[in-house]
Amino acid sequence: MCGIVGYIGTKKASPILINGLLRLEYRGYDSAGLSTIEKNGISLMKNIGRVKNLSELPGIDDLEGTIGIAHTRWATHGIPSKENSHPHTDNSKNFSVVHNGIIENYYSLRNKLKDEGYTFYSETDTEVIPNLIHYYYKNLKDEIGINRFLKAVRNACLDLKGSFAIEVICKDFPDNMIVVRKDSPLVIGKADGENYLSSDIPAILSFTRTFYLLNDFEFVVLSRNDAKFYDTDLNPINKELTSIEWDAIGAEKNGYEDYMLKEIHEQVTSTRETVGARFQENQKTCFNELNFTKEYLSSLNRIYIVACGTAMHAGLAGKAIIEKLCRIQTEVDIASEFRYRDPLIDDKTLCIFISQSGETADTIAALKLSKQKGAKTLAISNVIGSSLSRESDLAIYTHAGPEIAVASTKAYTSQIVLLNVLAIYMAEVLENNDINYLNTLKKDILELPEKISQTIEHSECVKDFAKKIYQEKDVFYIGRGIDNAIAKEGSLKLKEISYIHSESYAAGELKHGAIALIEKGVTVIASLTDKDLTKKTISNIQEVITRGAKTLIVTNQDLDLSTFDFSIKIPETNAFISPVLAIIPLQLLAYYISKEKGLDVDKPRNLAKSVTVE
Ligand code: M6R
Repeated sequence: MCGIVGYIGTKKASPILINGLLRLEYRGYDSAGLSTIEKNGISLMKNIGRVKNLSELPGIDDLEGTIGIAHTRWATHGIPSKENSHPHTDNSKNFSVVHNGIIENYYSLRNKLKDEGYTFYSETDTEVIPNLIHYYYKNLKDEIGINRFLKAVRNACLDLKGSFAIEVICKDFPDNMIVVRKDSPLVIGKADGENYLSSDIPAILSFTRTFYLLNDFEFVVLSRNDAKFYDTDLNPINKELTSIEWDAIGAEKNGYEDYMLKEIHEQVTSTRETVGARFQENQKTCFNELNFTKEYLSSLNRIYIVACGTAMHAGLAGKAIIEKLCRIQTEVDIASEFRYRDPLIDDKTLCIFISQSGETADTIAALKLSKQKGAKTLAISNVIGSSLSRESDLAIYTHAGPEIAVASTKAYTSQIVLLNVLAIYMAEVLENNDINYLNTLKKDILELPEKISQTIEHSECVKDFAKKIYQEKDVFYIGRGIDNAIAKEGSLKLKEISYIHSESYAAGELKHGAIALIEKGVTVIASLTDKDLTKKTISNIQEVITRGAKTLIVTNQDLDLSTFDFSIKIPETNAFISPVLAIIPLQLLAYYISKEKGLDVDKPRNLAKSVTVE
């Protein structure tokens, strides 16, 4: 978690740093700080709370430095406080550092440095970094110029265990900054006579479209006009620039009150972008990035889909379609469980990892484990050049555009669409399916954008229902089959942004325990999109109605809706892609309840957009 930005150029750094931090606040927002190099040495400004509090500090506008680093924090080690917020300096205030990640061996390093006479002023793991750099720097007296700074940073990083993206400035080198990453994101945006740094691309997209994407343990010495890259032996390495196609406007609110509402609406276009040109008339589905053969797919003993949170819920929809079309056993795992449960993996296993950000620590760790065990790995991410996609043998992208709101919406629907397209592609390679069925499914997928648009038209009706239930304490979501997967995602959305307790249940499971919680007035929300299971679920809904529940039904079936308190009729489509439509009223419901309660929809408490710690 946490967001970092940096700047080296000819303009005043502090307004640029604040601007970048505001865009990274989704990564953490309990405190913020920045450092610049001024004529009289390193400046240090920190404040608790949001970035706005930092920007209002007296004296911040007087900073003249044209090189600086900044940080917005999501606390891991130590409470949110001024002392614990970044940047951190060494005892002599020669070096200033911002850090995203976790230093797992900070305690022993701290003790070692204490024995060397260093004092610590915060509870953070980060504070060891500037002091360790200082320790090496002072012992590298024979090195001259920037090499001394670079070697000190390199030596310090080799001592660190855990994850880090760090930016370091040094009073002795007012024209340079050194940055490096390991398992935490960091990108460098290159412009004319200036370099921008950030934890993600959208935060600095308004300044440049040309980026260096860093790999682990690449040390970078930045100056205003240059970026020099080195490996761990400090041999120079060549680094290619990558051009980003998104525009900055894509990362702005575009007139919507919140990013989440904008992103819900964007599903019309994002799902279209996900399909792209993969379906061409009279052609097989195009996945040049994969090149799977019939022999390879037939040899697979199983597929694992591994992810966290919403991405894992998309994986449930992926399992359903892959098993249906490819007849390959497919398991869905939570990444934080998968990595520690010694899963049965060999070279006949395909492991698919889904992550919007591509930076989720548990998902990346699960991928590394699968590779060690011999599996082929395939990453599905929304962020081109993300750590997950670079670590993986194969990578495909959802192309949903930047998702800023912490609560994932368009990434989820794009993940489901892409998993369906992937399953169709694999079925075509396997040649084991009725072509007409595949073509009908393709047509249904291509019709989704129009149907999403029709579904969003129910917004006002959902808003009315939100007004009725926003003060509730418990809400239940139920469904069978694919509708159970929808229920899980609907329930997660409500919890995250409205802070209402909710549970999701396979509808048939209710009577095995949870129905004891149903009493007069409790809200039960049911999804009914699979016609083969509709009658069964209706019986379960009747059971809760009998016990006094208030019901909201989301369905694409022609039913007698008079027995339910509220209902939303969504367009009909193939059951395997129905979550793409059925989730929309549930996303809107969570959104409007959150608004009704006056909460911060885009930045819910205790959460961060990208979970880069275990
Ligand atoms: O970036 P990822 O897709 O790997 O993130 C995984 C989860 O942290 C994420 O989906 C989380 O559950 C969202 N806040 C849900 O809205």
